[in-house]
Amino acid sequence: MRKPVIAGNWKMNHNHIEGSDVFIELNDILKEENFTSNEVSAVIIPPFTAIRSISTAAEASGSLIAFGAQDISTHDSGAYTGEVSGEMLKALGVKYVLVGHSERREYHNDSDPAILTAKVKQVLKYGMTPIFCCGEALDVRQKKEHITFVQNQLKEVLGNFSTDEISQMVIAYEPIWAIGTGETATSDDAEEVCAAIRQWLNDNIDSQTAEKVRIQYGGSVKPDNAAEIMGKANIDGLLVGGASLKANDFAKIIQYGYEL
Ligand code: PGA
Repeated sequence: MRKPVIAGNWKMNHNHIEGSDVFIELNDILKEENFTSNEVSAVIIPPFTAIRSISTAAEASGSLIAFGAQDISTHDSGAYTGEVSGEMLKALGVKYVLVGHSERREYHNDSDPAILTAKVKQVLKYGMTPIFCCGEALDVRQKKEHITFVQNQLKEVLGNFSTDEISQMVIAYEPIWAIGTGETATSDDAEEVCAAIRQWLNDNIDSQTAEKVRIQYGGSVKPDNAAEIMGKANIDGLLVGGASLKANDFAKIIQYGYEL
């Protein structure tokens, strides 16, 4: 059984004060509702500047929620202005790191497979879990090339890792046309690609790894569509943007199973 992983990517929202307030509120709601992190891994991925405050709040309150980072340097340390290293993230208690999010690929030129590979290597080197993001733009889907496109994104990066390394990763399928647009892929659309990702793992890595790797869907997930998407056989989690910014909404998404 794959344990679902539901992650909230705050992107460039919430400063450290707002961020720790939302984190504490979310943790309180989940405690009140007897949420247990044995069933679902709940993760908040704030901007770098809020990680320290959140880690302090988490330590103080016995948190049920893990936290992550939105990017990582390809280097260990040194003269790399503006970068944040794996060692720094690890020291803050970060557990998950996003790599290859479509907004970084598109707006920050962060799409070179060699760089993405180096970032995933850094995440693993420091004992954290990479969430490797993939997904097609609208024109690719319209040409019905979305499956080969996504499988190629996997090949370019995951092709550089051992079976053991891949089995530690989370893969997030996020069709770009569904991110922040209110346009959700139907649960069948999402399942089609997540199943194709698992098939790729099965064919190119091995069947055990394919069974083990957790695959998330992301793109306009909301409290009212989370349960349906999570009901699909190959979807083991959600990567949530906008709807993770408010504690109440995100608590409902984390507890999708209870909302049915
Ligand atoms: P969204 O973002 O939920 O706001 O569509 C998802 C993401 O980019 O991870």
